[in-house]
Amino acid sequence: MLSKRPSVIVTRKLPDTVETRMRELFDVRLNASDTALTQAELKAAVAEAEVLVPTVTDRIDAEVLRAAGPKLKLVAQFGAGIDNIDIAAAHRAGLIVTNTPGVLTEDTADLTMALILAVPRRLVEGERVVREGKWGGWSPTFMMGHRISGKRLGIIGMGRIGQAVALRARAFGMQIHYHNRNPVNPEIEAELDATFWSDLDKMLAQSDVISINCPRTPATHHLLNADRLARLQPHTYIVNTSRGDVIDEEALAKALMANAIAGAGLDVFEQEPRVNPKLIGLPNVVLLPHLGSATVEGRTAMGERVIINIRTMADGHRAPDRVLPQLS
Ligand code: 8YV
Repeated sequence: MLSKRPSVIVTRKLPDTVETRMRELFDVRLNASDTALTQAELKAAVAEAEVLVPTVTDRIDAEVLRAAGPKLKLVAQFGAGIDNIDIAAAHRAGLIVTNTPGVLTEDTADLTMALILAVPRRLVEGERVVREGKWGGWSPTFMMGHRISGKRLGIIGMGRIGQAVALRARAFGMQIHYHNRNPVNPEIEAELDATFWSDLDKMLAQSDVISINCPRTPATHHLLNADRLARLQPHTYIVNTSRGDVIDEEALAKALMANAIAGAGLDVFEQEPRVNPKLIGLPNVVLLPHLGSATVEGRTAMGERVIINIRTMADGHRAPDRVLPQLS
């Protein structure tokens, strides 16, 4: 299917060790400047290469895929989420799509836990006060936040990352509740002492902290809309390390401004890198620049998965992280 030394175009700068290995194995075009390709450049890339390696910042839509040349066989996403790729159009084009699952689970769960701690305990607000020289000294009632131990964590999306968040949150004494398409394996549920809610609205009304860990799909677009946000109790915090578009960002900003919820920790946004200006002015919101998997170890492992997927196909086997065509 692929040639032994396939032509590969990588859309963004990857860790050095990954790029070095790709140079050894493939006829690769890297992107030293790290400037995202335009839609026209993406079309030119798919017209020419056997393999395209995109990231979350590339919109691989039907128009781009219509420009695919006869050589293109594989879209090997650098990332777990594949919501930037029009999968139906990739299917029509007869392409294989792979991703990099598993290797960013722990890093993303760590960052989620960091936000679950940072927002209720007001870490960023406190840091700002110190740095700006505005700290007047200790006082019994200064900058009190809220304890997370004993509180109910409602996890939306109990896949690998959701479960890894649950494991961490358990260690911090939180009670685990989750909403998922299906309950997880009973053994895992027992180990996490987790309660399944088929009805998301009911879980939302009972949660003290909500963590969004589901993928972005048409079904999860604005899953937390104004109606659902209105079901939350005013002391509830929301953390999102999945995709911005799962929350209606405008409705979230309004709920925060009205003190209808207590705060939010956001690593992802609807129109990255644009952040809704209403959120920027709010003290009870922690905003991060999509850092979920941003560790040297994680990004290197993601690159290695990409290489394994390409190599396996070049050797004539099925790529291990194939998401299209789906396994029957
Ligand atoms: C990645 C992510 O950094 O893998 C994902 O789905 O959200 C991020 O952690 C990004 O997608 C890289 O393409």
